[in-house]
Amino acid sequence: MNIIFLGPPGVGKGTHAKLLGEELNIPQISTGDMLRAHIKGQTALGMAAKKHIDAGELVPDDVVIGMVKERLAQPDCENGFILDGFPRTIPQAEALKAITTIDAVIDLVAGNEVILGRLSGRRVCKDCGATYHISRLDGKTTCEACGGPLIHRVDDQPDTILNRLKVYEEQTAPLIAYYEQEGLLHAVSAEEGIEVDHQLIKEALGLTA
Ligand code: AP5
Repeated sequence: MNIIFLGPPGVGKGTHAKLLGEELNIPQISTGDMLRAHIKGQTALGMAAKKHIDAGELVPDDVVIGMVKERLAQPDCENGFILDGFPRTIPQAEALKAITTIDAVIDLVAGNEVILGRLSGRRVCKDCGATYHISRLDGKTTCEACGGPLIHRVDDQPDTILNRLKVYEEQTAPLIAYYEQEGLLHAVSAEEGIEVDHQLIKEALGLTA
């Protein structure tokens, strides 16, 4: 199954794409994670992307499209994949349509207050990228998976969050109508908590018994 997770910053795309990918045994492809790996590795692409990401702006379409094309050509995508954070603009959606077919688009929906609470409380492992929320950390400051330090992402500071939400409304939200017209869109509430929301996603995809 080829699936897209759509939705504003902090709505839970990464959390749910990872869970579902593990259950279906297909890769979760996060363009945000790929770009952060480039920044960590100090590649030319990473250096060019950093200023956009830190400011809460989108990285130029040609850069991201090239990166995704290359990733989808890998053999582990043959049985399906979950795109998390791509496409984010109409030109990205058109480029994707030219290279592969999509079976379903999950549009995760939550109010701005929920999103602000999630992003301001999010902590990520500096070493492996695992994501946590302070409400579930019980004061811990290191990663359960690898022991690395937990940090607050540069783009999770209040002013940058507001800019990311604005950019989402202007450039990414039009994809909702785009995929509705394609007959692929499933809107799913993402406000109930991780376990409940995960079930709602599976129901929308027809994956429950
Ligand atoms: P990216 O990393 O993709 O950021 P994003 O889309 O803004 O999404 P986030 O990672 O912030 O949030 P999420 O929806 O994955 O939420 P999460 O699961 O972590 O991209 C970063 C930047 O890279 C962009 O701003 C842009 O510059 C660039 N970029 C990336 N892709 C691009 C593209 N295609 N084109 C151009 N530029 C691109 O959850 C958030 C928190 O909430 C966590 O703490 C989690 O534990 C908690 N949580 C999640 N779900 C629930 C729930 N149901 N109940 C309770 N808590 C929950």
